[in-house]
Amino acid sequence: MLPFTDGAAGLQAESVPLREIAERFGTPCFVYSRRALTDAYTRLDGALGNLPHTLCYAVKANSNLAILNLFARLGSGFDIVSGGELRRVLAAGGDAAKVVFSGVGKSAQEMNAALRAGIACFNVESESELHRLNTVAGELGRAAPVSLRVNPDVDPKTHPYIATGLKENKFGVAFRDARRIYRAAAALPHLRVTGIDCHIGSQITELDPFRDAFAKVLGLVDELAADGIVLTHVDLGGGLGIRYRDEQPVNVVDYAEVIRDAVGQRPLGIMLEPGRSLVGNAGLLLTRVEYLKPGESRHFAIVDAAMNDLLRPALYEAWHEVRAVQPHAGQARVWEIVGPVCESADFLAQSRSLALAEGDLLAVMSAGAYGMSMSSNYNSRPRAAEVMVDGDRAHLIRARETAESLYQLEHTLPA
Ligand code: LLP
Repeated sequence: MLPFTDGAAGLQAESVPLREIAERFGTPCFVYSRRALTDAYTRLDGALGNLPHTLCYAVKANSNLAILNLFARLGSGFDIVSGGELRRVLAAGGDAAKVVFSGVGKSAQEMNAALRAGIACFNVESESELHRLNTVAGELGRAAPVSLRVNPDVDPKTHPYIATGLKENKFGVAFRDARRIYRAAAALPHLRVTGIDCHIGSQITELDPFRDAFAKVLGLVDELAADGIVLTHVDLGGGLGIRYRDEQPVNVVDYAEVIRDAVGQRPLGIMLEPGRSLVGNAGLLLTRVEYLKPGESRHFAIVDAAMNDLLRPALYEAWHEVRAVQPHAGQARVWEIVGPVCESADFLAQSRSLALAEGDLLAVMSAGAYGMSMSSNYNSRPRAAEVMVDGDRAHLIRARETAESLYQLEHTLPA
């Protein structure tokens, strides 16, 4: 069953009409479906079947504690990129032993916290980082579990801002240097080399880039074994695309097959770092039309959500479907759906044909991933509320921010 469907009372999340959610919690508001989150997780997990695997949900896609807690209860591990994300995972009841730590700029403090928490692995992205990690681990008297994030130089055929595995990207170590850097890592006393890692980009809708990257990474596993460096796990990153409009996303069963083929009979644990594919289509952004402003060349529908709530359209010209919560008869017009923020890039959708009236509720679909987590307080706008629907119940999982909370850490100068 789809998480968001049209019912007698208009568009609903599971069994709860969005109109009720807007009345109870206000707008703008992110609305998630527990069932959709659970289904996405279990589909991917099920596709991997009896392969020895751990799904490490990429926290950056949506880091609300309720979502992390839900995945933790389903058995998920987590891919983090900061000390802040580690704190969230632990606060949500996540298991540190299933956490991998990615990112090009880990601070000594973040390494220290992650070592003390006992995470599964550091995905190291440079030679300098190896040395820093060795020092921090030495000071703590521990051995840090390490995998190198290698950059396989594969084109993921996605938006250039979210491609990460090309040699011009800042991520990972160059493929041709990997063997040498692995030998350097193996020689450092406070590191324990356990795995290898790659992540080539996001919103990938073809299998070939994965196939090419995984083949390169697994080839490297064999070369390393010949060097006497025997790895126990391979982390194949995230990147599975979803349908926003008319994309044909990769089927998870086919994706699992590519992984199975690449790994073959090697006795390796498999880790994945899915983000968007678990949460993207499980959430929407609920917003109300404040004003209609028909113009000479374009007609603007000014809504109460803005680029500070959902940055993707402004940043990547990303397309999100916009649905009327209670569609009504009347003349459809082509609208620019824009927010109150003082930027011309402040649009949520462009040129959408809808019959609109002031006060209408709209749902910006597929906003579960990289929506709230990339939101800001630009224009001193309090962040939106977040609500999780579970059957016929709606739970507030993050209260709307207050204006006061935005300047709570600020101080005026003494007289
Ligand atoms: N692992 C690493 C190391 C990553 O950098 C990312 C995403 C993921 C896993 C999860 O990838 P996913 O399964 O979600 O594709 N803000 C952009 C997406 C940026 C992705 C950054 N890294 C967007 O809104 O499209």
